[in-house]
Amino acid sequence: MSDQVFPDVVLRTRRLVLRALLDEDVDAIVAAVSDPLTQRWLPLPDPYSREDAMSWVREQAPAVRTGGRGLTRAIDWDGALAGVIDLKRTDWRRRETEIGYWAAPTFRGQGVMSEATVALSRWVLTEAAFERVVLRIATGNQASTRVAEKAGFTYEGTARNAGIVHAGRLDLAIYSLIPDDLRS
Ligand SMILES: CC(C)(COP(=O)(O)OP(=O)(O)OC[C@H]1O[C@@H](n2cnc3c(N)ncnc32)[C@H](O)[C@@H]1OP(=O)(O)O)[C@@H](O)C(=O)NCCC(=O)NCCS
Repeated sequence: MSDQVFPDVVLRTRRLVLRALLDEDVDAIVAAVSDPLTQRWLPLPDPYSREDAMSWVREQAPAVRTGGRGLTRAIDWDGALAGVIDLKRTDWRRRETEIGYWAAPTFRGQGVMSEATVALSRWVLTEAAFERVVLRIATGNQASTRVAEKAGFTYEGTARNAGIVHAGRLDLAIYSLIPDDLRS
Protein backbone atom coordinates (compact mmCIF):
# COMPACT_ATOMS: atom_id res chain seq x y z
CA MET A 1 0.00 0.00 0.00
CA SER A 2 1.49 3.35 -0.98
CA ASP A 3 2.34 5.75 1.78
CA GLN A 4 -0.60 7.62 3.32
CA VAL A 5 -3.14 7.12 0.51
CA PHE A 6 -5.78 4.39 0.61
CA PRO A 7 -5.82 2.20 -2.52
CA ASP A 8 -8.84 2.32 -4.83
CA VAL A 9 -9.90 -1.01 -3.33
CA VAL A 10 -13.01 -3.06 -4.17
CA LEU A 11 -14.37 -5.04 -1.20
CA ARG A 12 -16.84 -7.91 -1.60
CA THR A 13 -19.16 -9.23 1.11
CA ARG A 14 -21.87 -11.89 0.99
CA ARG A 15 -24.34 -9.54 -0.74
CA LEU A 16 -22.47 -6.33 -1.47
CA VAL A 17 -19.66 -4.82 -3.51
CA LEU A 18 -17.94 -1.73 -2.06
CA ARG A 19 -16.50 0.19 -5.00
CA ALA A 20 -15.72 3.72 -6.21
CA LEU A 21 -18.62 6.05 -7.01
CA LEU A 22 -19.63 6.20 -10.68
CA ASP A 23 -21.54 8.68 -12.85
CA GLU A 24 -24.37 6.11 -13.00
CA ASP A 25 -24.86 6.53 -9.21
CA VAL A 26 -25.78 10.23 -9.45
CA ASP A 27 -29.58 9.93 -9.58
CA ALA A 28 -29.65 7.48 -6.66
CA ILE A 29 -27.30 9.75 -4.67
CA VAL A 30 -29.54 12.78 -5.21
CA ALA A 31 -32.61 10.81 -4.09
CA ALA A 32 -30.91 9.34 -0.99
CA VAL A 33 -29.25 12.57 0.16
CA SER A 34 -32.54 14.48 -0.33
CA ASP A 35 -34.36 11.99 1.92
CA PRO A 36 -35.57 13.57 5.21
CA LEU A 37 -33.87 10.98 7.46
CA THR A 38 -30.53 11.54 5.74
CA GLN A 39 -30.97 15.29 6.07
CA ARG A 40 -31.97 14.92 9.72
CA TRP A 41 -28.72 13.24 10.73
CA LEU A 42 -26.16 14.55 8.25
CA PRO A 43 -25.37 18.24 7.58
CA LEU A 44 -25.41 17.87 3.78
CA PRO A 45 -26.51 20.61 1.36
CA ASP A 46 -30.31 20.99 1.31
CA PRO A 47 -31.53 21.12 -1.42
CA TYR A 48 -29.02 18.69 -2.95
CA SER A 49 -28.71 18.94 -6.73
CA ARG A 50 -27.46 16.71 -9.58
CA GLU A 51 -24.54 19.11 -9.87
CA ASP A 52 -23.70 18.57 -6.18
CA ALA A 53 -23.73 14.80 -6.71
CA MET A 54 -21.72 14.97 -9.94
CA SER A 55 -19.09 17.13 -8.28
CA TRP A 56 -18.88 14.67 -5.36
CA VAL A 57 -18.53 11.65 -7.67
CA ARG A 58 -16.05 13.18 -10.12
CA GLU A 59 -14.02 15.60 -7.98
CA GLN A 60 -14.49 15.63 -4.22
CA ALA A 61 -14.53 11.89 -3.46
CA PRO A 62 -11.49 11.12 -5.65
CA ALA A 63 -9.65 14.10 -4.11
CA VAL A 64 -10.34 12.81 -0.59
CA ARG A 65 -8.62 9.55 -1.52
CA THR A 66 -5.66 10.96 -3.45
CA GLY A 67 -5.16 13.62 -0.77
CA GLY A 68 -4.85 10.89 1.89
CA ARG A 69 -7.86 12.09 3.85
CA GLY A 70 -10.02 8.99 3.42
CA LEU A 71 -11.86 6.65 1.08
CA THR A 72 -15.43 6.83 -0.28
CA ARG A 73 -17.11 3.60 -1.40
CA ALA A 74 -20.45 3.05 -3.11
CA ILE A 75 -22.37 0.12 -1.63
CA ASP A 76 -23.52 -1.82 -4.67
CA TRP A 77 -26.18 -4.49 -4.21
CA ASP A 78 -26.89 -6.34 -7.48
CA GLY A 79 -26.02 -3.25 -9.52
CA ALA A 80 -28.12 -0.81 -7.46
CA LEU A 81 -26.74 1.87 -5.13
CA ALA A 82 -27.78 0.73 -1.63
CA GLY A 83 -25.78 3.43 0.15
CA VAL A 84 -22.40 5.05 0.59
CA ILE A 85 -19.79 4.43 3.29
CA ASP A 86 -16.57 6.33 3.80
CA LEU A 87 -13.40 6.73 5.79
CA LYS A 88 -12.68 10.32 6.86
CA ARG A 89 -10.64 12.41 9.32
CA THR A 90 -7.81 9.96 8.71
CA ASP A 91 -4.73 10.41 10.88
CA TRP A 92 -1.89 8.38 9.35
CA ARG A 93 0.55 9.05 12.18
CA ARG A 94 -1.88 7.71 14.77
CA ARG A 95 -3.31 5.23 12.25
CA GLU A 96 -6.82 6.27 13.20
CA THR A 97 -9.80 6.93 10.92
CA GLU A 98 -13.57 7.45 11.15
CA ILE A 99 -16.41 5.73 9.30
CA GLY A 100 -19.46 7.62 8.04
CA TYR A 101 -22.44 6.36 6.02
CA TRP A 102 -25.96 6.68 4.72
CA ALA A 103 -28.24 4.04 3.21
CA ALA A 104 -30.69 4.65 0.35
CA PRO A 105 -34.22 4.67 1.87
CA THR A 106 -35.53 1.55 0.09
CA PHE A 107 -32.50 -0.47 1.24
CA ARG A 108 -32.73 0.35 4.94
CA GLY A 109 -33.49 -2.22 7.62
CA GLN A 110 -31.97 -5.17 5.75
CA GLY A 111 -28.55 -5.22 7.39
CA VAL A 112 -26.81 -3.45 4.50
CA MET A 113 -24.93 -0.90 6.57
CA SER A 114 -23.91 -3.39 9.24
CA GLU A 115 -22.49 -5.67 6.53
CA ALA A 116 -20.65 -2.76 4.85
CA THR A 117 -19.33 -1.44 8.18
CA VAL A 118 -17.97 -4.85 9.14
CA ALA A 119 -16.22 -5.13 5.77
CA LEU A 120 -14.66 -1.66 5.69
CA SER A 121 -13.63 -1.58 9.35
CA ARG A 122 -12.00 -5.03 9.20
CA TRP A 123 -10.21 -4.13 5.97
CA VAL A 124 -8.76 -0.92 7.39
CA LEU A 125 -7.60 -2.62 10.60
CA THR A 126 -6.04 -5.60 8.81
CA GLU A 127 -5.03 -4.81 5.21
CA ALA A 128 -4.32 -1.12 5.90
CA ALA A 129 -2.83 -1.90 9.34
CA PHE A 130 -4.77 0.83 11.17
CA GLU A 131 -4.97 0.85 14.98
CA ARG A 132 -8.36 2.47 15.57
CA VAL A 133 -11.64 3.05 13.68
CA VAL A 134 -14.22 5.41 15.14
CA LEU A 135 -17.95 5.98 14.66
CA ARG A 136 -19.42 9.25 15.98
CA ILE A 137 -23.21 8.94 16.23
CA ALA A 138 -25.82 11.44 17.38
CA THR A 139 -27.23 10.10 20.64
CA GLY A 140 -30.79 10.00 19.23
CA ASN A 141 -29.86 8.12 16.05
CA GLN A 142 -31.05 4.65 17.00
CA ALA A 143 -30.58 3.01 13.59
CA SER A 144 -26.95 4.11 13.40
CA THR A 145 -26.39 3.06 17.02
CA ARG A 146 -27.60 -0.44 16.10
CA VAL A 147 -25.18 -0.51 13.17
CA ALA A 148 -22.29 0.25 15.54
CA GLU A 149 -23.41 -2.47 17.96
CA LYS A 150 -24.01 -5.08 15.25
CA ALA A 151 -20.62 -4.32 13.68
CA GLY A 152 -18.90 -5.05 17.01
CA PHE A 153 -17.86 -1.52 17.97
CA THR A 154 -17.45 -0.55 21.65
CA TYR A 155 -19.15 2.51 23.17
CA GLU A 156 -16.56 4.79 24.78
CA GLY A 157 -18.57 7.78 25.94
CA THR A 158 -20.42 10.84 24.70
CA ALA A 159 -18.84 13.99 23.33
CA ARG A 160 -21.17 16.75 24.45
CA ASN A 161 -22.37 19.37 21.95
CA ALA A 162 -19.87 17.96 19.42
CA GLY A 163 -22.16 17.38 16.42
CA ILE A 164 -23.79 19.76 13.96
CA VAL A 165 -26.94 18.96 11.99
CA HIS A 166 -29.44 21.26 10.25
CA ALA A 167 -31.52 21.49 13.44
CA GLY A 168 -28.56 22.62 15.56
CA ARG A 169 -25.95 21.07 17.80
CA LEU A 170 -26.17 17.68 19.50
CA ASP A 171 -24.20 15.15 21.53
CA LEU A 172 -22.20 12.45 19.73
CA ALA A 173 -21.74 8.94 21.10
CA ILE A 174 -18.23 7.68 20.33
CA TYR A 175 -17.74 4.05 19.29
CA SER A 176 -14.46 2.38 18.35
CA LEU A 177 -13.00 -0.81 16.95
CA ILE A 178 -9.34 -1.74 17.46
CA PRO A 179 -7.23 -4.73 16.36
CA ASP A 180 -7.57 -6.44 19.76
CA ASP A 181 -11.35 -6.63 19.20
CA LEU A 182 -10.76 -8.82 16.15
CA ARG A 183 -8.57 -11.24 18.09
CA SER A 184 -10.99 -11.74 20.98
C1 LIG B 1 -28.21 4.59 9.87
C2 LIG B 1 -28.46 3.87 8.54
C3 LIG B 1 -27.25 4.06 7.63
C4 LIG B 1 -28.64 2.37 8.84
O1 LIG B 1 -28.61 1.67 7.60
P1 LIG B 1 -29.32 0.21 7.48
O2 LIG B 1 -28.77 -0.46 6.26
O3 LIG B 1 -30.78 0.36 7.61
O4 LIG B 1 -28.74 -0.51 8.77
P2 LIG B 1 -28.97 -2.02 9.23
O5 LIG B 1 -30.15 -2.62 8.50
O6 LIG B 1 -27.65 -2.71 9.13
O7 LIG B 1 -29.30 -1.85 10.77
C5 LIG B 1 -30.27 -0.92 11.19
C6 LIG B 1 -30.78 -1.32 12.56
O8 LIG B 1 -31.44 -0.21 13.15
C7 LIG B 1 -32.75 -0.59 13.53
N1 LIG B 1 -33.58 0.62 13.41
C8 LIG B 1 -33.92 1.28 12.31
N2 LIG B 1 -34.66 2.35 12.63
C9 LIG B 1 -34.77 2.35 13.97
C10 LIG B 1 -35.41 3.21 14.92
N3 LIG B 1 -36.08 4.28 14.51
N4 LIG B 1 -35.31 2.90 16.22
C11 LIG B 1 -34.62 1.82 16.64
N5 LIG B 1 -33.98 0.97 15.79
C12 LIG B 1 -34.07 1.25 14.48
C13 LIG B 1 -33.11 -1.70 12.58
O9 LIG B 1 -34.17 -2.47 13.09
C14 LIG B 1 -31.78 -2.45 12.52
O10 LIG B 1 -31.56 -3.20 13.71
P3 LIG B 1 -31.84 -4.78 13.81
O11 LIG B 1 -31.07 -5.44 12.70
O12 LIG B 1 -31.35 -5.14 15.17
O13 LIG B 1 -33.32 -4.96 13.63
C15 LIG B 1 -29.73 4.40 7.84
O14 LIG B 1 -30.81 4.37 8.74
C16 LIG B 1 -29.56 5.82 7.30
O15 LIG B 1 -29.15 6.00 6.17
N6 LIG B 1 -29.92 6.83 8.13
C17 LIG B 1 -29.79 8.23 7.71
C18 LIG B 1 -28.33 8.71 7.65
C19 LIG B 1 -27.60 8.44 8.97
O16 LIG B 1 -28.19 8.44 10.04
N7 LIG B 1 -26.29 8.19 8.85
C20 LIG B 1 -25.46 7.89 10.01
C21 LIG B 1 -24.99 9.12 10.69
S1 LIG B 1 -23.98 8.67 12.11
